[in-house]
Amino acid sequence: MCTAIKVKPESYGEAGFISSVEKSPRDLQVDQVDVLYLHWPTADGNIAPTLRLLQLPPDNKQTRNIGISNFTAQMMRNARSMVDGPIMANQVEFDPMLNQNTLLATATETGIPLSSFCSVTRGEVFQYPIFAEIGVGYGKSAVQVILWRIVQKGLTINITSTKPDNIRAKFDVMDFTLSLIDMARIEAMTAAGYRMVTKYKVPIAPEWD
Ligand SMILES: NC(=O)c1ccc[n+]([C@@H]2O[C@H](COP(=O)([O-])OP(=O)(O)OC[C@H]3O[C@@H](n4cnc5c(N)ncnc54)[C@H](OP(=O)(O)O)[C@@H]3O)[C@@H](O)[C@H]2O)c1
Repeated sequence: MCTAIKVKPESYGEAGFISSVEKSPRDLQVDQVDVLYLHWPTADGNIAPTLRLLQLPPDNKQTRNIGISNFTAQMMRNARSMVDGPIMANQVEFDPMLNQNTLLATATETGIPLSSFCSVTRGEVFQYPIFAEIGVGYGKSAVQVILWRIVQKGLTINITSTKPDNIRAKFDVMDFTLSLIDMARIEAMTAAGYRMVTKYKVPIAPEWD
């Protein structure tokens, strides 16, 4: 498990940024978090100022690592060239209804791993029976199939749940491997091209790859 905080675009000035980084661990009642993320690239696409803020001064004790979120492939390359040291992840929408092969290839190229959000499209994927059908062969549920496919693609997972049983289910995935055939069956679903976080919903979203 990994604790993460994000600085939102409205706090991207220097004073707001620092106060946000100090406030979030306090709100979570922890001394330190694992990853500090930039929630979004800036609307004008000029990522340099926020990446400078993200690179913590050496005396910062509240965050162990840094990450980015919703960065396009080109922004990942730019970030790699602007940031000294590791970038722990680019947190992006990643679910079985969306082809993110460009970002996956860029993750390999830049060494910036991807981490998934909207991993189960807030429940909408469950209307398609294929995930539950595949799960039968492994004794796993639809959500477990979807989550483990994400790990087999090389990502870490973020998923929200309000129910203890659903939270438990997401940890009970480490004892099976999806076959190449089942991975290909799921991959075929990405042709739907369904994206939750559209420019319509988030006007500052960049032009997606
Ligand atoms: N970086 C970004 O811009 C960004 C954008 C969006 C989200 N995120 C992050 O991504 C994470 C998750 O995203 P999200 O909440 O938007 O979408 P999500 O994880 O795709 O969907 C959450 C929904 O899935 C259901 N669910 C969870 N586990 C389940 C299970 N085992 N069986 C059946 N249903 C299950 C939950 O219902 P129940 O509550 O009923 O279990 C909840 O309604 C969060 O940490 C969020 O902060 C980041």
